[in-house]
Amino acid sequence: MIFDNEVLYDDGQHKFIMLGTDIGGSEGIPVNQFLIIDGTEAFLLDPGGAHVFATVLANVSEVIDPTRLTGLFYSHQDPDVTSGIMMWLNVSERAKVYVSELWTRFLPHFGVYDEKRIVGIPDKGMEIRFSSGNVLKIIPAHYLHSPGEFTLYDPVAKVLFSSDIGASVLPPGTKSRKVEDFQWHLKNAIVEAFHKRYMASNAACRKWVSMVKGFDIEWMVPQHGAIYPREMTEKFLSWFENLRCGSDIIDEVYGR
Ligand SMILES: [Fe+2]
Ligand SMILES: [Fe+2]
Repeated sequence: MIFDNEVLYDDGQHKFIMLGTDIGGSEGIPVNQFLIIDGTEAFLLDPGGAHVFATVLANVSEVIDPTRLTGLFYSHQDPDVTSGIMMWLNVSERAKVYVSELWTRFLPHFGVYDEKRIVGIPDKGMEIRFSSGNVLKIIPAHYLHSPGEFTLYDPVAKVLFSSDIGASVLPPGTKSRKVEDFQWHLKNAIVEAFHKRYMASNAACRKWVSMVKGFDIEWMVPQHGAIYPREMTEKFLSWFENLRCGSDIIDEVYGR
């Protein structure tokens, strides 16, 4: 199922775009990418692995000249997020990589040696400021699921990029990339099973929800599967802050 680029916010100066994807058309887990444009600057969120590079590059090129990219945000170290990193650094020579300080020392294993191109995100998160004065807020989400994990809130677009939090795998034949029925989504898009196994503990879930629930969120957009409109985001956050997962259910995880 092929989906085109979709604009989630556009005021002429600032844009938040969900790039197109081919669900079920590529090997491996399907991934979402998002492009934030602010004037002459542009950030790509979780650009994805090597095997989706050509598709993502084509999707970015429909919107901007990809050599204009100024930031590459990596929410964590997983291969579905990072393995195309050298290709992206070659596409735009002015793009900087934003990734957890925990993971910067691993980047030479991808062939990334130029430290000037890497910004290590401290555990408490940080703000990225565009030359317009607009900011992106990088919000810690540690242990959800990576020990060095970040989500990103765009206060202009009112979009929360939630990385693997809220991730789903849409069943074959799905016609929409938007969550419409939360209970159906939990069971049929593997949301419940995924979060119980991949997320570390309820303490981590609760901490992250406390960080984001004061935000004005029009869309919550994860790295996999369907995106959550406002009402579904509220339902997700209520469900997630009460989820028992990971070490809370360790015997279940071990199959005992
Ligand atoms: Fe992941
Ligand atoms: Fe992922």
